[in-house]
Amino acid sequence: VTGSQGQLGSSLMTSAPGSLNVFGRSRDDCDITDHRAVNAVFKELDPNVVINAAAYTAVDRAELEPAKAFAANAIGARNVADAARQAGARMIHISTDYVFDGSQTVPYTPASKARPLNTYGKSKLEGEQTVLATDETALVIRTGWLYSGGQNNFLQKILNRLLVNSPLKVVDDQVGVPTLTSDLALAIWSCVDLPGQRGIHHWVNNGTASWYEFAQRIREVALNAGILRSAAAVVPISSSSYPAGALRPSYSVLDSTSLWKVLGTPRHWHNALDDLLEDIASRAISREGKDHRGPSATKDSRNDTILS
Ligand SMILES: NC(=O)c1ccc[n+]([C@@H]2O[C@H](COP(=O)([O-])OP(=O)(O)OC[C@H]3O[C@@H](n4cnc5c(N)ncnc54)[C@H](OP(=O)(O)O)[C@@H]3O)[C@@H](O)[C@H]2O)c1
Repeated sequence: VTGSQGQLGSSLMTSAPGSLNVFGRSRDDCDITDHRAVNAVFKELDPNVVINAAAYTAVDRAELEPAKAFAANAIGARNVADAARQAGARMIHISTDYVFDGSQTVPYTPASKARPLNTYGKSKLEGEQTVLATDETALVIRTGWLYSGGQNNFLQKILNRLLVNSPLKVVDDQVGVPTLTSDLALAIWSCVDLPGQRGIHHWVNNGTASWYEFAQRIREVALNAGILRSAAAVVPISSSSYPAGALRPSYSVLDSTSLWKVLGTPRHWHNALDDLLEDIASRAISREGKDHRGPSATKDSRNDTILS
């Protein structure tokens, strides 16, 4: 698993099936932009399968440093695909809903025309194309709006901001599917056992939401679960109200039918979020009395222009 300390990489590592020998490699252990480093890891481990969860994911910052985004998301993906082909390993590569421009009003299928609006999306699209051109047996799984119980994501950022007693403005005119990394990780592990799955597929949780609806539900459930004792209001705004580093699609719901048919329909994002927040609450309650200071401040540049 490359990018093993990222959101998805961490979930893959903690949910790896006991029947598999799984090795995680972080950027420090294996920088995928360095083909020698990638080849050395393949030589050391001789894997049957490689899951490429490493990526440059700072959507806004990518507009300022496109070379870095393309280095990781296109050249890095090609380095992993090259090494996988030479080693006879199967590659599972993770991509994004931001390859789409948002002009559709119905879910995007894997066959829908990709037309990214921003540098991050362009770099990820080039990554998909180079992976499939290098290894036609590769499986590319596009997903969207990832979050987890870890430190660096939209959920934590919303919880932190709700503690500040001023209204939290969140964009209401971008619609996608909040997807829990641990649910996606289990779907990816199931794909390891399905070598016939190749080409581009989509996988997200069930349901749809705007960022505002996602934030609003976080607020409601966090209050009900006792994670927050009080919370600022969440106010819907349009994305045109705030200057964004990168354009984002107004609609990026992924039609995941092709994998859902094989793996089963996943739970609704409401249920995934509710369960995660319940879990966070029960862990906080067990710490209560010792050191319950609420969520800690985090730095996350992925969603800087979604909320203000
Ligand atoms: N986050 C989302 O909402 C979202 C939505 C759709 C698709 N995706 C896709 O899902 C996958 C996983 O995303 P994520 O949310 O887990 O991202 P993440 O938390 O940013 O994790 C990515 C990991 O890749 C590492 N990395 C970056 N450049 C690297 C390099 N050159 N070599 C090796 N490792 C490198 C990062 O390390 P550093 O922290 O040191 O940079 C980080 O640990 C990515 O392919 C992403 O494009 C994400």
